Amino acid sequence: MRILVIGSGGREHALVWKLKQSPLVDKIFAAPGNGGTKREGAINAMTPADDLDGLVSLARREKIDLVVPGPELPLTLGIIDRLRQAGIAAFGPDAYCAQLEGSKAFAKSIMAKAGVPTAKYAVFNDVEAAKNHIVKFGAPVVVKADGLAAGKGVIAAKDSREALQAVEDIMAARAFGAAGDKVILEEFLQGEEVSLLCFCDGEHAVPLPSAQDHKAAYDNDQGPNTGGMGAYSPAPMLRATDAGKMVDMTVRPVLKELAASGHPFTGVIYAGLMLTSDGPRVLEYNTRFGDPECQPLLMRLGGDLAQIMLDCINGGLDPVNIQWSKQTALGIVLAAKGYPHACAKGQVIKGIEDAENIPGVKVFHSGTAVKDNVLVSSGGRVLCVTALGDDLAKAQSTAYTALEKIQMKNSFYRRDIGNKGIRRLAAALE
Ligand code: AMP
Ligand code: GLY
Repeated sequence: MRILVIGSGGREHALVWKLKQSPLVDKIFAAPGNGGTKREGAINAMTPADDLDGLVSLARREKIDLVVPGPELPLTLGIIDRLRQAGIAAFGPDAYCAQLEGSKAFAKSIMAKAGVPTAKYAVFNDVEAAKNHIVKFGAPVVVKADGLAAGKGVIAAKDSREALQAVEDIMAARAFGAAGDKVILEEFLQGEEVSLLCFCDGEHAVPLPSAQDHKAAYDNDQGPNTGGMGAYSPAPMLRATDAGKMVDMTVRPVLKELAASGHPFTGVIYAGLMLTSDGPRVLEYNTRFGDPECQPLLMRLGGDLAQIMLDCINGGLDPVNIQWSKQTALGIVLAAKGYPHACAKGQVIKGIEDAENIPGVKVFHSGTAVKDNVLVSSGGRVLCVTALGDDLAKAQSTAYTALEKIQMKNSFYRRDIGNKGIRRLAAALE
């Protein structure tokens, strides 16, 4: 089989790495890919992830059998619909279903119809009405741009002044462009966050093991929200039995609702949950693998990813074909100084081979490129150093040992990835 992976992050490197292990797969293309996809032997095409015409003609030209989009943008733009029209198999939801991620107002309305627990909210398409709501109900309040904003369109405002400023930035100054045409004001929830991902074949949902992301830029969850600074799986705060119940509460009703509207969901659905004292609440849906959660998750996947994806597309997804290692996997993101804001590119990266010589370690590339045969940084998140271990503490210490082998000027990483889980495991033993 010939496969095309769309995207250029650590998630896409991990997808290429895992798909390459499938006996069904002969050749992999990445569009546009990165230094890591190239090192796996994929052919990097220049086509950007949002160039639908270019992607469809690339898939036709290279006689691609299966297309796997990594990021949300091609999905919300309708790449799956376009590929289906062209008779090419593609793993992911159509544009209608991708609105679950592409429009928070759409997601909220589906949750309301499906009876899924979520924060109380109100949707506004008028600046003054949104501001009046804040003045009336006060803070804390969470202000969200309706559309895609690369993980930056959510502001948890501690006071009314901050909330009013967020509305001004999103709606009036259009900090995220058309994504801010509507704003959602949402009840501020407290609790621990957990990511719940499922493979879906339109009818069935098969949960992946639990994973925990680290969204804040700095240690102890300080600093601005990022795409994610590290992740591990399994996450001790979510027991497998609870995960099953949560899928029943937060994923299956939504799949039923989408199927009833003529759009069965295929691909990966990702529910971002807050475990509050009143029970789980859905913060958001993504309609794809998370990055960096994908990297530790795929390190643990025992089955054939290409076959699982075909089963999602063709129906008849069978949990028997999806096995997971009992080990823990933990990934730490190495980012360029300044991320998630503007940061310098073109820094030389060394030491990856030394890191990967440590048993159980895999270094996934995010923003990397090969320039004159030298590996350099080309984005905010640069690498995700991922390790398997018999438990969380072992995976953590191996991943940090590996990370220390890597040199890149003007970079930083969080030093506490996994600590929360380790504390939780220790408390459970007391
Ligand atoms: P979202 O993109 O909706 O998942 O929001 C990004 C991040 O903002 C989440 O991972 C949470 O850390 C935080 N967040 C979102 N909604 C809420 C909420 N209602 N209460 C508290 N924090 C939230
Ligand atoms: N790590 C969170 C995301 O991919 O949206």
